[in-house]
Amino acid sequence: MNKNVGDDDVRNFWDQVSSDWEAQVGDKGDSNRLLNSDPVLWKLVGAVRGLNVLDAGCGTGYLSRKLCDRGASVIGIDLSSKMIEIARQKNPDMDFRIDSCSELRTLDTCCFDMVVSNYVLMDLRDLHGAMKSFHRVLKPEGVAVLVFSHPCFPQARAAVNDQDGTVTYVWDYNYFEEARQVSPAWGHFKSEFIWFHRPLSAYWKAFRSAGFEIADFNEPSIARERYHLAANKRQLSNGKSRPYSVAFKLKKTDACK
Ligand SMILES: C[S@@+](CC[C@H](N)C(=O)[O-])C[C@H]1O[C@@H](n2cnc3c(N)ncnc32)[C@H](O)[C@@H]1O
Repeated sequence: MNKNVGDDDVRNFWDQVSSDWEAQVGDKGDSNRLLNSDPVLWKLVGAVRGLNVLDAGCGTGYLSRKLCDRGASVIGIDLSSKMIEIARQKNPDMDFRIDSCSELRTLDTCCFDMVVSNYVLMDLRDLHGAMKSFHRVLKPEGVAVLVFSHPCFPQARAAVNDQDGTVTYVWDYNYFEEARQVSPAWGHFKSEFIWFHRPLSAYWKAFRSAGFEIADFNEPSIARERYHLAANKRQLSNGKSRPYSVAFKLKKTDACK
């Protein structure tokens, strides 16, 4: 898919919105992460002390920092040089590299215990290349923890009725067709947002064809112990009832080639 879109298009977009992204996630992550997906992410990640971890599509590096603070040895990579610049400024003691998930050319084969990729897969032009690269850099028995926007419930196309709270998802594209999408500005963004739609089954197939075994799958919702963190009733009820993301844990079961 996306034969007419190159990595330059994606790189330029993320370079352009890098400071908006920093405003969006800050040092802790945005409300969706804090309320909904982080508890699932950390459960799938488990104890990381002493592990070599790749943060693939690290953005401004806030999650790389958290992984490092939990005792992991972390390398963060991102396609956008502006994102990497911010990550390095904020964390001068850490290793951040400009690289594409599709190639991971700066990384050796079989050197990571874990790949973590948080809200990146729906932004990748070349999912198959990325999955093959994740598989290549993992050690045998290594795991990939992948959290990304739920492809079945496009939040940029969701409308909430203020009267009764009904949510309507508008499908102005073909769910089964893999294609570059442009959504209106949201959150801290001032410009339109580029991403890549693919059906859930396409992710599943890409994971399997890269050689991964699927060890766990979840659709995060707000955890009871985080109810009090919701800013208002609407955020709480959204977290309880609307799936924003999916979370996969994949395992490399074969030997390194
Ligand atoms: C939604 S942001 C998430 C950033 C970070 N993981 C976080 O949680 O804040 C998506 C990131 O993926 C990066 N990205 C997009 N395509 C990429 C690719 N092919 N290789 C590496 N990074 C890529 C973008 O530059 C951007 O930083």
